[in-house]
Amino acid sequence: MVSPGKIGYCLVCVGIIVYGIWDYLSNFEQNKCLMTYMFEMPEYIQLPLGKRLKEKYPRYRLFIYGEGQYARKLESKRKVPVNGVPVLFIPGNAGSYRQARSLASVAHRRANDKRFSFHFNYFTIDFNEELSALYGGMLQSQTEFVHECVKKILSLYEYNKPTSVVLVGHSMGGMIARGLFTLPEFDQNYVNTIITQATPHQAPVISLDRMIATYYSRVNNYWRTHSNTTLKHVTVVSTGGGYRDVLVRNELTSLRGIADPDLSISTSTMSVPNAWVSTDHLCAVWCKQMVMLTKRAMFDIIDPATLQVTINTDERMNVFKHHFLSNPGTKKIPEYWRDEILLYEETPWVVKKEKTWEFAKKRVLEDYYYAVPMDLEDVNSFVAISNVDLQDWICICKIERNEERCKTCNSLSQKGKIIPPFDSYRKIIHIDYKDYPEMTHVVLIITAGPNQVEVMGDSYNKDYRHLSYKLPSVPDILMTYPESVTKGVSVLTLYNGSLFYNLQLKGLDSVLRAYTAKLVPKHCTSDKDLHEGNMISLHVPWSQEDVYSFSRLNEIGNLSIKLQSLASPMEDNNESVELRIYIDPTCSYQLKIIASPTESLGQVSVICIIAT
Ligand SMILES: *[C@@H]1O[C@H](CO)[C@@H](O)[C@H](O)[C@H]1NC(C)=O
Ligand SMILES: *[C@@H]1O[C@H](CO)[C@@H](O)[C@H](O)[C@H]1NC(C)=O
Ligand SMILES: *[C@@H]1O[C@H](CO)[C@@H](O)[C@H](O)[C@H]1NC(C)=O
Ligand SMILES: *[C@@H]1O[C@H](CO)[C@@H](O)[C@H](O)[C@H]1NC(C)=O
Repeated sequence: MVSPGKIGYCLVCVGIIVYGIWDYLSNFEQNKCLMTYMFEMPEYIQLPLGKRLKEKYPRYRLFIYGEGQYARKLESKRKVPVNGVPVLFIPGNAGSYRQARSLASVAHRRANDKRFSFHFNYFTIDFNEELSALYGGMLQSQTEFVHECVKKILSLYEYNKPTSVVLVGHSMGGMIARGLFTLPEFDQNYVNTIITQATPHQAPVISLDRMIATYYSRVNNYWRTHSNTTLKHVTVVSTGGGYRDVLVRNELTSLRGIADPDLSISTSTMSVPNAWVSTDHLCAVWCKQMVMLTKRAMFDIIDPATLQVTINTDERMNVFKHHFLSNPGTKKIPEYWRDEILLYEETPWVVKKEKTWEFAKKRVLEDYYYAVPMDLEDVNSFVAISNVDLQDWICICKIERNEERCKTCNSLSQKGKIIPPFDSYRKIIHIDYKDYPEMTHVVLIITAGPNQVEVMGDSYNKDYRHLSYKLPSVPDILMTYPESVTKGVSVLTLYNGSLFYNLQLKGLDSVLRAYTAKLVPKHCTSDKDLHEGNMISLHVPWSQEDVYSFSRLNEIGNLSIKLQSLASPMEDNNESVELRIYIDPTCSYQLKIIASPTESLGQVSVICIIAT
């Protein structure tokens, strides 16, 4: 006999899990991805593969992407006239060859509009939308088919013959791209660049048959043991989709322990500079913010001498780091960074003795140097936000005795970091004065121009701005229920006169904990039209999963506080998760932390799903 108590208990369990799953699937931020705009009809021209391959792989096909005149040109000749940089898109589980469209189309447009001396030829594979994530047997034959396609693609070229093909893999397609190298006849020089989108590199999402597990362990073991032999020329970029990708969790997309960290990048689309969006599993292929920067990265890895992908791995990694990890706030990758900047004598030198100040104008009519003295009372650091469209926008210098201003200064702009909103090219910099004991002034360079300019500076003392906060534990939450989950606890009142706060969050030690931070504006004296707004970000020191949230000046800012990595590694784990807050110095705010028990349940059911 089953006791009624037990039945009741089970019902509660099932209830929690169902509720948690529902929450997990519904309670994430809305889709903030923009769509790419199509100018012409996308066309897919099938490439003949020969009798042998047709018999061996009757359901698989290879296409080349075209649109407009370019498509007409591709169709008109018996032999496809290609002379660009070959890129092959590999779709994922049940994916379509048509998913290559967004990337192919923006690349086509850019090559045409900007009159580059090269262009890309996008090829795409049709796996007949097979369920490769479910049946492992298909993975091997798909990998072998991709190998045939790579050989076929390279054989099409007559002029400017490429030696390699760039692979872009969505989901399981990324696994297949890496799997190519395990084929005994595969010439590893055929591929030196792989970009994967939402690919579960660490482990299959579900493993229904043994063949998937076998495929994974063969590929990953190969990658672990060949990083400085057959793979030493291969660079890989892997992006996960963050909160919205409920199929492939971010953690699975990491290449940690699989690929050489000097040759690979693993990140989340939520952390990628100038994207900062969570992409659900399918959106990973069309999300405009990601498509644009992936495209830019692909243009930037082309060697102008060969008009093909550069064979220098360091150059490729620099490009990928700029676009996917840390962008100092420049639209183009700078060819070089100047150490010393000449300061013109005619330009007004404005000394800012106030601890916080801002310069906000619709249009700037003349250049300025805003000089911040480094000897203000009770100050040991400086933070600035600027949207001035200059590569060298901030520098540091020493005023000589008997002089009133600096003649030259040392650029610090390389240490800047781009921040939201999308395409605003606002950048931020923190300067710790103890790193520059010789210097006397920080100089912000503002140039005349037709665009709206917003520059803010804040000289501060770290002791007052680096704070620590212990997140409420489950008993704390229960004690103050229901306020803890409705209104939340008020953590900080942020008075006007500061630009930045850093809150070390203690107690966020498990993925089960979930909170929401709310930044509530209280009182503002500034002109809303001249200011972008506020930003909060969650920095996770042990994993590439920082999350950013942006809100306009009078809007409430919201940010989920939760971890995406199941286990934080034991090493280098003495640093805490940080909540970084950048606000407008003319406003005051209330920071609240609200416990999210439903999100916690969502996190629990994730573990259940993973465990089963
Ligand atoms: C490859 O890397 C390992 C360590 O990762 C090193 O011990 C070995 O000497 C390297 N081999 C070559 C050929 O550089
Ligand atoms: C944050 O959430 C509140 C409701 O809780 C909403 O009114 C506000 O618009 C949100 N802010 C942003 C920037 O989405
Ligand atoms: C973390 O540990 C390292 C050495 O183990 C130490 O150098 C560092 O200061 C520690 N960081 C913090 C924030 O305690
Ligand atoms: C801060 O607010 C007070 C009172 O509203 C005001 O007098 C002061 O000028 C403000 N400070 C700044 C930097 O805006």
